[in-house]
Formats: sequence, structure tokens, C-alpha cells
Amino acid sequence: MSDDGYDFVVVANRLPVDFSVAEDGTTSWTTSPGGLVTALEPVMQAHSGAWVGWSGSPDLDHEPFDADGVRLVPVALSATEVELYYEGFSNDTLWPLYHDVIEPPAYHRQWWDAYRKVNARFAAAAAAQAAPGAIVWVQDYQLQLVPALLRELRPDVRIGFFNHIPFPSLEIFAQLPWRAQVIRGLLGADLIGFQRASDAANFVRSVRRFTDLTTRGEVITVTDDDGGRRYVRAAAFPISIDSEHFDNLARSPAVKARALEIREELGNPEVMLLGVDRLDYTKGIRHRVKAFGELLQDGRLTVPEVTLVQVASPSRENVGAYQQLREDVELLVGRINGEYGHLGKAPIHYFHHSYPAEEMAALYLAADVMLVTALRDGMNLVAKEYVAARSDERGVLVLSEFTGAADELAGSVLINPHDIDGMKDRIVLAVEMDYREQRKRMRRLRRRVLEDDVEKWSQTFLAVLSAVPAHHLPAHQP
Ligand code: G6P
Repeated sequence: MSDDGYDFVVVANRLPVDFSVAEDGTTSWTTSPGGLVTALEPVMQAHSGAWVGWSGSPDLDHEPFDADGVRLVPVALSATEVELYYEGFSNDTLWPLYHDVIEPPAYHRQWWDAYRKVNARFAAAAAAQAAPGAIVWVQDYQLQLVPALLRELRPDVRIGFFNHIPFPSLEIFAQLPWRAQVIRGLLGADLIGFQRASDAANFVRSVRRFTDLTTRGEVITVTDDDGGRRYVRAAAFPISIDSEHFDNLARSPAVKARALEIREELGNPEVMLLGVDRLDYTKGIRHRVKAFGELLQDGRLTVPEVTLVQVASPSRENVGAYQQLREDVELLVGRINGEYGHLGKAPIHYFHHSYPAEEMAALYLAADVMLVTALRDGMNLVAKEYVAARSDERGVLVLSEFTGAADELAGSVLINPHDIDGMKDRIVLAVEMDYREQRKRMRRLRRRVLEDDVEKWSQTFLAVLSAVPAHHLPAHQP
């Protein structure tokens, strides 16, 4: 870093490391290489990079430290803030609202107050790290007020924002009591990225409705408090994965051997279906399991010839809707296994765990049909991981139309998860698809996923952001 700060600062709700606290209170951390950190690592190392984020544990205060050449700057959240800002406003207001109110969002003024307060803390931490004229990239719905708050503190920096989840239609966004403030918060950025063109268009419509600013296509003219004018762009930058890494992983002898072993441990079924999701109500797990159960009931699929492996990784376990979902899914899985299973021959193998990338790659490689049945999803990276893992050009991706990935992944079998009969037919089509057709589709999918990887995503976004003029136009300029 230069003496006066870092040239490139990422601000995200979470740091890219996992912390653990020992009994004597000492903390340690391990790197958790997520997609975002992999994408940003080259940029971080080429410039001097810092990452501002929460440790993931309440009341954990930690000095900034270096990991793999990146400065990590923890932002502390109290237990109450975790409850009000993270579980409350982020995950029980914004999350359901932005996912088309699949579950009813809760609106509490206390949650909003905590959201504002915590966003201000993130903005201050980012402002303290950024070198003059730095690029600051703010991530996701938890931090929508950071761009404007940061601009107030540091008008010299260039600010990008990327929304990893959908941006809802005007009619749905309108519910939010603090809609105008959220829009103003986002408009502090120079560039606002969304997963799909329709998300960006939804945002621009809301800008027109809830502010008096003028917009032209994807450009919004913002007048700041000092009367100066800026142009903010809202556009689509669909995120991806580290495709090459996943491809290599799945080609490794250890992963290939593990894939065979998985099939064996399942009793060598003719067809293995796979679902991999955070246990989240947006993922359509209930719909998927219901459809599978009905296919068994109808006798269109039979046990032990066909089996479904469902990995549901634990998520947001203090939020009521997630607790209810777990109850529902586990009840349904139990019923189907009770009804159609035999000793050693379960229709559904359900796991409430998360697994390392090697095991995930082996599961993808073992699966004949991948079921992605989300009711709404910003992108869905699991769909892309499945494709990247299939260098054998086999396997069928069944993909919900309601994912960002559906805009890109021609070659998948598209489904509407609300249409249970339609989904059942498409699952059967996938199960029965011959290898020639599988190969044709998988080649097409792989070309896309290998070409458009996460590095390309971040480079494209940052190139557009860097092209933005560094300073806003003072009031007297035309
Ligand atoms: C989604 C969000 C991320 C979030 C992740 C895990 O992908 O877009 O911002 O980090 O879910 O959720 P969590 O609440 O555990 O961070």
C-alpha cells in the first residue's frame, strides 16, 4: 500500500475468511476461497488491495491484518446489530422483498435504524482505507447506503456497487417504506451493476418513480447537494465462477475416483439426480422435492433405479422463515423416504451440511441430472459449477427460468418451478435424454461458462468503472 491508503478497496458484508474463537477468547482465521475473492485476487494483488467486511461472528473485534497479500479490515457488529441489521433488515426485509416477496418481508423501523447505522460504519471504514482517487467496490444488498455515505466522506474516490441478488419490479420495490433513501444510497455510486438487464431496468424505473432525477437509457443524471452534476450508470454484469479452476478440479483423478465411489455408495442407481442449495426458500427445494415425490407416486420414476441427492447447506438459521423451511423440507423428505424407500434404498439422500469444493465437484460429476429449481435467484452459481465440472460432456442441467443463469445458459432444460406438472415432464425428459443430445447441449453450455468466467466479470465491471471521470462536474459547468 502507499502511505496514504489502498488503491482498490472492496466492501462486502462478509470478509473472505472464517474466524474461530477459542475457549480462551483468542481468535484465529482460515481463508474461505469464495468466488468473489478468487475473482478479485488478481486485481487486489496488482494494485494494493483492502477488503472491508464483517467477521461473521457477533461482538468479534479484530485489528486489520494481511492474508495472501490482501489487507483485511474487520468491521465489528454487536449481537444486537447482527439481529437487527443482518438477520432483520438484510435477511427478513430486503431478501424476501428483492426475491419477489416469496415470503412476506417484515418492515420494522428499528431494523432500518440499525441498517443505517451499520452502513455508516462500513462507509467510514472504507473511507479510512482508500488512497486518494482509489476505486472502491461495494457489494450487495446489505450495503446499499454505503455508496452515498462514502461519497460524502470521500468525494475523490470512484465508487462501484454490485447487486448480487435480483432487483424487484417497481410495484414490489414500492412496498419498502425507505425506498427513496435506498435509491439515494445506491446513487452515490458511479456505476451500479446488476445480474440481468431486467434488474437494471427495474432499478431505473424505480429511480424515475421515487426521485425527480432524469434518466436516459441506463444513465441517471444525479444532482448532488452542492448542485454539482454526476452521471450514474446502471447496467447488467452477470457474475460467474472460476470456471477453469472447477474444470481442473473435476478432471483430477481424486475427484473422478470419488465420483465413482459416490455412485457406488448410493447403490449404483441408473440415474442420480442432484440438488445443491443453501437451505433458502428462494431455491424452490419444496417444489423440487414435491415433483420428485409425485414422479415416484405416478410410477414414472422408480426406486432404486433413480435416486435424488439433495445437499442443503445451513443458512441464516436464526431467521424464522428459514427455520420453517427446514421443517417443511425435512418433513417432506421423511415422508417420501418412508413411502417409497426400502432398507438401503432411499429415494432421497438429504444432507444438511456444506462440503468442500472437491466433494462438490465429485457430486456434480456423479450426477446425471442437476436440478436448479429456484423461484427467484440473482444468478445461481451452482448451475455454472455443474457445467464447469462436466468436461466429460455428459449430464443434463434442469434450470429454472427465474434465475439469472437462465438468461445465459442456452442448452439447459428450462422449467417453471410453479408448474409442477410441467416440471415433472421436463425432469423425465432430462432423465431419458440420450447421450448425443446431452453432449450437444453440454458443449454449448460449457463454451459459455468457460468463456465468461468470474475474472472476465470483474475485469469488465472495473474497466467500465475506471472509465468514469474521476470527479463530478461542478455546478457551473454545462
Ligand atoms: C447470497 C448473497 C450474499 C451472501 C450469501 C450467503 O449469495 O447474495 O451476499 O453472502 O447469499 O448468505 P449469508 O447471509 O450467509 O452471508
